[in-house]
Amino acid sequence: MRSFLNGPSFSVPGGSMEEDKPLRERYSSEITPEDFGTKLAVAGWLQDVRNLGGIAFLQLRDRGGVLQVTAIKKEMGPEGFRELVELPRESVITVTGTVQENNQAKAGFEVLPSSWELLSRAEVPLPLGVVDKVGADLDTRLDNRFLDIRKPEVAAIFRLRSILTEGLRRSLVDQGFVEVATPKIVSAGAEGGATLFKLDYFGKPAYLAQSPQLYKQHLMATGLDRVFEVAPAFRAEPSDTSRHLAEFTSLDVEQAYVRTSEDVMVTVERMTVDGIRYMIEGGQELLDQLIVRLDVPPQPFRRIPYDECIDMLRGDGADVPEDAEMGTEHEKALGQLVHQRWGEDFYFITDFPTRYKVGTFYAHRHEDRPELTGYFDLGVRGLEIASGGKREHRLDVVTAQMEEGGLRPADFEFYLKAFRYGMPPHGGFGYGLERLLQVLLGLSNIRETVLYPRDRQRLVP
Ligand code: 4AD
Ligand code: MG
Repeated sequence: MRSFLNGPSFSVPGGSMEEDKPLRERYSSEITPEDFGTKLAVAGWLQDVRNLGGIAFLQLRDRGGVLQVTAIKKEMGPEGFRELVELPRESVITVTGTVQENNQAKAGFEVLPSSWELLSRAEVPLPLGVVDKVGADLDTRLDNRFLDIRKPEVAAIFRLRSILTEGLRRSLVDQGFVEVATPKIVSAGAEGGATLFKLDYFGKPAYLAQSPQLYKQHLMATGLDRVFEVAPAFRAEPSDTSRHLAEFTSLDVEQAYVRTSEDVMVTVERMTVDGIRYMIEGGQELLDQLIVRLDVPPQPFRRIPYDECIDMLRGDGADVPEDAEMGTEHEKALGQLVHQRWGEDFYFITDFPTRYKVGTFYAHRHEDRPELTGYFDLGVRGLEIASGGKREHRLDVVTAQMEEGGLRPADFEFYLKAFRYGMPPHGGFGYGLERLLQVLLGLSNIRETVLYPRDRQRLVP
C-alpha cells in the first residue's frame, strides 16, 4: 500500500498488502454490476460490525454511502478475522477484496476481503455518535463538528452549499460581473459602530470588515463597472439569535450606471432564481436526502413598499409603533401575510424610509420624496436575505448625509476621494449566503449552515 500517504502500514494474517495498490479505487457509490467478480480497494470509516461468529458483516462508510464488507473467519484465519471485527467503530480502514452481488446487502453487493489495512484507529468512546438514532444537541454537535459532518445528512448541507454558491457565482459571471477581493482589515466601519470588531493593527486601531460596501463602491470609480465578492463579513452582534453569526459569508454585488434601485433588484432576482435552479438540478439527490422540496420561485418577485408592509401588518392586528422600524416579529408576520395573500415566498420590501439606519449615508433618497430611500430588502418567508439599493454618488450629498448621521467625513476620506474625479451612478446589495441556505433548506438555526460557526460563545473549534 502507499504508506507515504498514511504513515506505516502493516499486513495482517489472511492477506498480503500490495504495496503499489491505491488506498481507494472506488467510492461505494461508484461500484456497479460491471465490477462484480473483480478485486478492488475500498476505504472509509468502519461504521458498524455485526459479528455472527464464523462470519461478520461490516458496514464501511465513505463519501458516497455505505457498503458491506463480509468477513469469513475460515478464509481470513482466526487472527485476522478477530483483529478486523474487533476494531473500534469509526476507525479508518482500506479493504482490498472481490466485489460480489448480494441482494441481502443494502447496496446490492458485498466486498469479500483478501487484505485489509488499518489506517487510523478510533479511540473509545466516541464523543459523538455518528449513526445514533437519538440526535445530540447542537452544541455537542458543533463541539465535535468533524464527527458531526460524517453524518450524511449533515454533509449534504455543505455539499448543497457548494452547489448553491457555484450557481450564484455562475449567474453573476453570466451577467457580466467580475469577481473581486477587498480587504477584511479596515480603518472604518460601513454599517455603524455597534457591531464593529476592533483590533490592533501595528499599533493603530483597525476593524474587521462588516461589509465590503465602501470598497465595492470605490470600485465603481475604476471602470470595472460590475463587481461581486463572496467573502466573510464580521459583525459583533449584540445578541445570540438563530439568524445571526459573528462571521458570515456576504455575497456582495455592485453595478455602475443604474438609474434606480429597480436595476439592482433585477440583478438580485436573476441571481437568486439562477442559483436555486442550479441547486435543484445539481443537488436533487441531496435535497431528497434532507426531505426538502424546492421549486424555482416565480418571477418577478413582488415589490411591496415599506409603508404598505406596515399597513398590511397593522391591518392584520399587529402593533407597529409610529417611528419604529419593523422588528423581527414583524418581518416574520409579513412573510406569512405575503404567503397567505399571494402564495409567494420571495418578495422585496422597497422604499425604506430615510430615518431608519439602513444605508444611512450611502443610500440614494428619492428626489421628490427625500423621506424615502430607494433601499430594499429581499425577504424570503419572513427572513431578510439581502439589503441594497441605488447609492448616492454625488460627493456633496454623501458628505451631508454622513454629517447628518453623526459621522465625520474626515474619517472616510479614502472613500470620498473616489467620488471627486468622476463617479458613475451605481447601486448594489449585500446578500447573506447562510441565510439563503437556511431558508431554502428549512433549517431552524443558521449555525447548521456553517462548518465552524462564530458567535458570542463560540471561538473553538
Ligand atoms: O443588511 P446588511 O447589513 O447590509 C449590508 O451589509 C449593506 N452594506 C449591503 C449593501 O450592499 N447595501 O447585510 C446584508 C445581508 C443581510 O441581509 C443578511 O442576509 C446578511 O447580510 N447578514 C447576516 N447574516 C448572518 N449573520 C449576521 N450577523 C448578518 N448580518 C447581515
Ligand atoms: Mg439589512
